[in-house]
Amino acid sequence: MRAVRFRTFGDPSVLHVEDVAPPRAPTGDQVLVRVDASSVNGTDLGLRRGDLKIATLGRMPFVPGFDVAGEVLRCGPAVTAFTPGDQVMALLDHGGGGQAEQVLIRQHRAALAPASSSAVEAAALPLAGLTALQALHGKAGLHARRGARVLVNGASGGIGSYGVQLAKLAGAHVTAVASAGRLAFAAELGADALVDYREHEIADLGERWDIVFDAPGLLSFAAVRPVLDDGGVLVSTRPIASDALRGLVPPPLRHDSRRFTAVMTRPRSQDLAHLAALVDSGRLRVAVDRSFPLARASEAHRHAEGGVRGKVVIAVSG
Ligand SMILES: NC(=O)c1ccc[n+]([C@@H]2O[C@H](COP(=O)([O-])OP(=O)(O)OC[C@H]3O[C@@H](n4cnc5c(N)ncnc54)[C@H](OP(=O)(O)O)[C@@H]3O)[C@@H](O)[C@H]2O)c1
Repeated sequence: MRAVRFRTFGDPSVLHVEDVAPPRAPTGDQVLVRVDASSVNGTDLGLRRGDLKIATLGRMPFVPGFDVAGEVLRCGPAVTAFTPGDQVMALLDHGGGGQAEQVLIRQHRAALAPASSSAVEAAALPLAGLTALQALHGKAGLHARRGARVLVNGASGGIGSYGVQLAKLAGAHVTAVASAGRLAFAAELGADALVDYREHEIADLGERWDIVFDAPGLLSFAAVRPVLDDGGVLVSTRPIASDALRGLVPPPLRHDSRRFTAVMTRPRSQDLAHLAALVDSGRLRVAVDRSFPLARASEAHRHAEGGVRGKVVIAVSG
């Protein structure tokens, strides 16, 4: 089968489409999936650049791709959730491997894809959608904060574009932070207020928020604390050492009702199914900035690094 691989770290030219051995037959709770599409995430870009060398140790040449959508071809004997022919989407483990024509997936990492979506759209949901959902509801307790004021940093990107929409669905007032050229996109997603990060520091806006969701993981707690309301929370995709330690201190020992927390995205199939239901009911939009065929995977990476509106996806089959 064909797969995208890199054997050295560097710019997108290190990616090559190669013939590799297909996966063995599924065992236990594994399903064998024909991959129709796989999206490009910040994690793929970082791994390729060599920012996270430890994650590729013993796994070179590395096949990127953590999100897939496609058809179940075969099921292991312990699979209960799927049968061959099902259209699924899934979040793969740290080994990646999604940018290939077939992949083995444990069933708890997958859910039925939205019936109303193409494979390209379904592949744009798992990692970014789960991260936004688990950050806002799981970590920041959005569901328990009626009429919350939420600031989404990186609102035009993969995670942020879901963050804006999920916060609006929860009844929040949403401030979207992105570069000027992508603010109209954040407004289309429902943002109530728009901030160009090149023009304004959020500390200078004279406002406060209940939740600051830092999708690109660029903000420190020290910088955000003054703009958090009492009981407010900064939830980040990237734990920053001292901020992460602060999050470990139990509330009674903290002299501050404001807190920092970081999300570590989990492959929960019930969360994936929830996202699929939101898409099928027309309440959540999957924003695909652009898709590329597998043979042009390096172009897809280059495009993703240039700034996007939503997600960049690789169409694997066809
Ligand atoms: N913790 C976890 O489990 C987990 C899971 C998934 C991903 N992640 C991490 O999450 C990060 C974001 O992923 P993504 O896929 O959403 O990335 P993305 O699609 O590239 O989006 C990045 C966003 O950040 C914005 N941005 C860039 N510089 C900014 C700045 N100085 N201030 C404010 N916004 C800025 C961009 O806006 P413009 O394009 O308008 O400049 C864009 O909206 C990645 O670093 C990834 O590794 C962590």
